[in-house]
Parts: sequence; structure tokens; C-alpha cells
Amino acid sequence: MIGRLADGFSWGVATSAYQIEGSPFSDGAGESIWDRFVRTKGTVAGGDTGDIACDHYRRMEEDVALMARLGVDTYSFSIAWTRVIPDGHGVVNSAGLDFYDRLVDTLLANGIEPCPTLYHWDLPQALQDRGGWPERATVDAFVHYADVVSSALGDRAKHWITHNEPWVASMLGYLEGAHAPGLRDWRAALPAAHHLLLSHGRSVPIIRANVPGASVGITIDCRPTVPASSDPADLAAQRHFDGFRNRWFFDPVFGRGYPEDIVATYRDRGRFEGARPPFDQQGDMAEIAAPIDFLGVNYYTSLTVAAGADEIEDTGVAPGPNPPGGHTEMGWPITPAALSQFLKRVHDDYGPDRIIVTENGASFSDAPGPDGRVRDERRIRYLSEHIEAVADAAAQGVPVVGYYVWSFMDNFEWSLGYSQRFGLVFVDFATGERTPKDSFHWYARLIRG
Ligand code: FCB
Repeated sequence: MIGRLADGFSWGVATSAYQIEGSPFSDGAGESIWDRFVRTKGTVAGGDTGDIACDHYRRMEEDVALMARLGVDTYSFSIAWTRVIPDGHGVVNSAGLDFYDRLVDTLLANGIEPCPTLYHWDLPQALQDRGGWPERATVDAFVHYADVVSSALGDRAKHWITHNEPWVASMLGYLEGAHAPGLRDWRAALPAAHHLLLSHGRSVPIIRANVPGASVGITIDCRPTVPASSDPADLAAQRHFDGFRNRWFFDPVFGRGYPEDIVATYRDRGRFEGARPPFDQQGDMAEIAAPIDFLGVNYYTSLTVAAGADEIEDTGVAPGPNPPGGHTEMGWPITPAALSQFLKRVHDDYGPDRIIVTENGASFSDAPGPDGRVRDERRIRYLSEHIEAVADAAAQGVPVVGYYVWSFMDNFEWSLGYSQRFGLVFVDFATGERTPKDSFHWYARLIRG
């Protein structure tokens, strides 16, 4: 199977800052929208917070040593904006930057390539207080932050991701209200999405200028959509959801502007003022389409859509009746074939030079047995089926050059708190103890093979 993947294929694991670090206010860090959101009653299952999480902020060296045992080529992590610039736009906090400086050095000393993501959803609360992503000024703040971080780390970190999943950041945060900052407003969500994309495009040339030999990309979550039946109404709903979930983000990044069918629908439904999206100013689309070195795609499942589906209620996944592959514990249908098809489609429609699957993985709650071993065969099956799907796409000529498992270790799963476990490493959240699962040993063997 691996033989079908290119030489130099990069195997990795992924995490994000708020989900693993803990110590959110240490060493001068500022408050983020997630620090605020988790303190709002009823937002997160079990009232969980990221205050301790995996305590990675204090156990970083130990975690990197475990990654070295796993044998990964790449570690994809995110940087907490609030550690580096506590109020989002003003003074740089060198103590916060030091953490990532040490992380990069520790990774390199262990032969692991660092892949920082600048934004994995933890906007400084001070910027949200000024309106957050719906405000155009947030773009300038992000570009300044990207400049600071890439000039500090760019002599050693070469592989950069601007944003993780702008659909989630805008639509779950500003439309569905399931994520921070918890708004439910189309007229906030659409400009938020636009400014996320614009901040991506504007920071690409800055990162390139700061980082000799840089490879810069963006990660978009892909959610293939499947019509519930061949009824024309279901087909139309599916086409709309594909626009809402996928094309609204992929099209601008690859120079096509916003998809006209979706612009028309949003206009007809009054989701922006006027005939055209007013936030899309002259020249923005050219900036958003800044050439990238690779496209990151995150993939978990596909979405079955029926006529009458409403975006606010159905932004998650409609599980559909008994999918043949079963579900993960997120309730997500297991649909590996849709990953090969989607990779092929991205290649055919958009032609990025290189594609990396920057997240893929499964929630299963298997815990240590009496002998201490975590027998997570279901995760092993999920991962191997999806890696097969990546190899299938590669065999069809898709230039996919890397695959990162979500996640290195169990962590804080956003509004679901600690109820979902995606890790190759089991974390006992009461003690912080780490136990590599069977899937960890399986992945280590696969990488060595
Ligand atoms: C992705 C997120 C990641 C994690 C996985 C399960 O959408 O990027 O942080 O929550 O889903």
C-alpha cells in the first residue's frame, strides 16, 4: 500500500493549542474566545474547559519524546495567538513566544519537522470585543501576528499553515453558535469567513518573505455531500450544501471567487445587504488567491443531505440510516471511499501543486484494560481504510504528499469536552498519565515499514 505513495511521503500527527496545552494564562498570555466561551454556562459538555487539558504546556519535552518513539516525520501543532500577542494586536509577549521557540528546537533535535498552524480558532478575546472576525480590522491584526511569529521561528520552521478549517471558525462560531464566540447570525458569519480567507491570502507573501525556503498552505475541511435520494429536491439541497460547506472556501482560495449559485441563494435569503456580498471589496479575491505551496485537507466523514435541510441546524453531520461502514463515537459515518473521491475532485477542479491530509482520525473511547493495554482495533481499522483511500487517490495521479493523524493524544474536543477520544495516546485527564494505544504501535510499524 505504502509503495503507491510517493518517496518522501510525510507521516505525521496533529494537535492544536487550546485542545492540549492547558495553562492558558501562564507567562503573560491573554484571554482567548475559547477561555471566555468555556466559562459560559451550558456551552461545553460536562462544563469542561481547556484550563489543564493535556498539560502539554508543562510536559512538552516528554510529549515530543513520545512522538520521536512513534517515528513521525512531521508534527502539526497550532500557536496560541494570545500567548504571542496577548491583546491580539499590540505588544509582543516574548515569554509566550519562547514556548514555541523551545517546541521547534525540541522537535528538530528529535528529527521531527515542525508544522505550525497560525490559527486554530482561539482568537484573542480583546479582538472579539472589537467585533472579531466579522470586522475587517481583524485581518490587519492577523497579518501582524503572522509576521511576528514567522520572523521569530522561520529560520527553523519551514512548513506553515495559515488557518485551520475556516468553515468551522466562521460557521460554527458565528452562525451555529456551537463554538466560540457563540453567535447565531448570518450577517456575522459570512464576513467572518471572508476575513479569515483574506487574512490567509495576505499573510502568505509575508510568511514567504520571512522564511527562507518556506512551504505555505491553508487547511480547509472537506465534507463530501451525498444526496439522500435521486429526487431533484434532494439533489438541489445537496448541491447547495456542497456550496455552503466546500465551494464557498475552495473556490476563492483557487482564484474562482465566490460560487455564483450560492451568492444568489444567500442574496435571495437576505444573508447579506445588497446585490453582492458587501464585505468582498475590490481586490480581495486576488489577495485571497495568493499562490500556495500546498493545500491541507482535513477529512473525517461525508454528509447526507435531504431537501429542507437547514444550514444552522444541519451544519453537523446527518448520520443517515445505518451507513455500511458504521459510525465513530462522534456519530460520524465511516466513509473512506468518499475521501479518495474528494481528493480526486480537488485535484481535477482546483489543481493544487501538492495536497496533504492534515487531519484524519476517529473517536473511540477504548481505555486501558487490566493489563494496561489499550486495544483500539476500531481506530486501527478506520486509519488503515483511510490511508488506503489516500493511496488510491495517489494511484490516480493526485499529488498527495503527506498524511497526519488526528490526534497525537486524547484532548479537549471543543464543545464535547473530554467526552471524545481521538488520540493514538490515551490520556488520563485526572493524572495526566499517557499510555500509547495499540494504534500508536500500529502507526509506528506502518511508518517504519
Ligand atoms: C477538526 C478540528 C480538530 C478536531 C477534529 C476532531 O474539525 O480541526 O481540532 O476537533 O475535528
